[in-house]
Amino acid sequence: MAKPVTTFVCSACGATHKKWAGRCDACGEWNAITEEAPLSQGPAGKGLGAAKGARVALSDLRTEEAAPPRHSSQMNELDRVLGGGLVPASATLVGGDPGIGKSTLLLQAAASFARAGLKVIYVSGEEATAQVRMRAQRLGLADSAVLLAAETNLRDILTTLEAEAPDLAIIDSVQTMWLDTVDSAPGSVSQVRAAAHELTTFAKRRGTAVMLVGHVTKEGQIAGPRVVEHMVDTVLYFEGERGHQFRILRSVKNRFGPADEIGVFEMTGAGLSEVANPSALFLSDREKPSPGSVVFAGIEGTRPVLVEVQALVAPSSLSQPRRAVVGWDGGRLSMILAVLEARAGITFQGLDVYLNIAGGMRINEPAADLAVAAALLSAREDAALPHDTVVFGELSLSGALRPVSQAENRLKEAMKLGFSTAIAPAGCKISQNSGVTVQSMEDLPSFVGEVFGAG
Ligand code: TYD
Ligand code: MG
Repeated sequence: MAKPVTTFVCSACGATHKKWAGRCDACGEWNAITEEAPLSQGPAGKGLGAAKGARVALSDLRTEEAAPPRHSSQMNELDRVLGGGLVPASATLVGGDPGIGKSTLLLQAAASFARAGLKVIYVSGEEATAQVRMRAQRLGLADSAVLLAAETNLRDILTTLEAEAPDLAIIDSVQTMWLDTVDSAPGSVSQVRAAAHELTTFAKRRGTAVMLVGHVTKEGQIAGPRVVEHMVDTVLYFEGERGHQFRILRSVKNRFGPADEIGVFEMTGAGLSEVANPSALFLSDREKPSPGSVVFAGIEGTRPVLVEVQALVAPSSLSQPRRAVVGWDGGRLSMILAVLEARAGITFQGLDVYLNIAGGMRINEPAADLAVAAALLSAREDAALPHDTVVFGELSLSGALRPVSQAENRLKEAMKLGFSTAIAPAGCKISQNSGVTVQSMEDLPSFVGEVFGAG
């Protein structure tokens, strides 16, 4: 039988070539031709579908499937992010910057699960078992029944896991693992993918829940956690500003629960402690009414969270004024500035703009638009908003304010924390007796007029 030949395919137009060339003859694109591995043709002479495979059992959607049983970690914040507890046979990726506290979190979780009666194996590819034990001592977990191993060879790890059949296996980190069947260095895209693939198939096959740690990397030498996101059931990111003690565990994908849920932790001298009421924490060091500071009533997943949006506007000495953002999207800030200029006639030309979300929190919600606009205006006009006011609403490019979801929940949280007024888009579903006075705004010009006078 003829050997399948390697083909060269243009990634721009899809044309195939017999040999590599710098420029594609078909579309004229430069540097777009890449080598493509030949497709396997299977056993010689037999096409697919020729009644040689096994028949797959089919069922329909009406087949009853019991809800997956879950194990509680006894850590409310972690359970919430997992969608209500750990699902057996699931694969979870925990990503985050180096040093943010992933190993600490997972060691605490491992001890918690072990205390609840699960068999837990913690495999560290980065630290020696003595180091892990030292950390456990510091966390007050030295007497827990977690089984430890320091190993990076995946073949040995899988052999051990097969024999031990734990309920939960933690692999810290997937970038240190290597397979002898893959021909590249540990940490490369193909090694990381192969390791994650082996571990997730092991999880499905044996019913062991697997948690993988993945470091977010800055340079391209080492594959980041993104390359395995599609293989796992749940993707969690552990984030926070290095200088702050708050850490936020956020689910960005979850096959067993809502995504975008957050768990809030505080890094202390004795490990991570849970923060049950994050709003109180994020607002705790708020001073007197100050220009540029606005409280945003946000929703993270299913939970309302109040955070402080801070803006500073100052005359610029640069020809291109500075736009600096921490905790929010820079592109979205440019958009808000443009809408303020085009729809309300308020320009930030020649002014440096700094925007910060207090407490190291990161906001992705469009509902924060109005709070950001309010903070920018308040800083520019040097006029503080009343101290007991929260703001939320999405801004459209036309300058109209769009209603946002869960307005009731936002107001309830605001009332709980002692706020008495809310500025919100007209058209939000709000019942009369929410306990908070709501000022409804149709659009940006009316907001500017009512809150800041004529501007
Ligand atoms: P670590 O869990 O090792 O981070 P990662 O695994 O994400 O790389 O956390 C390291 C940081 O946490 C380190 O800077 C020290 C700090 N830390 C504490 O502040 N308190 C503690 O009890 C522990 C164990 C760590
Ligand atoms: Mg670590």
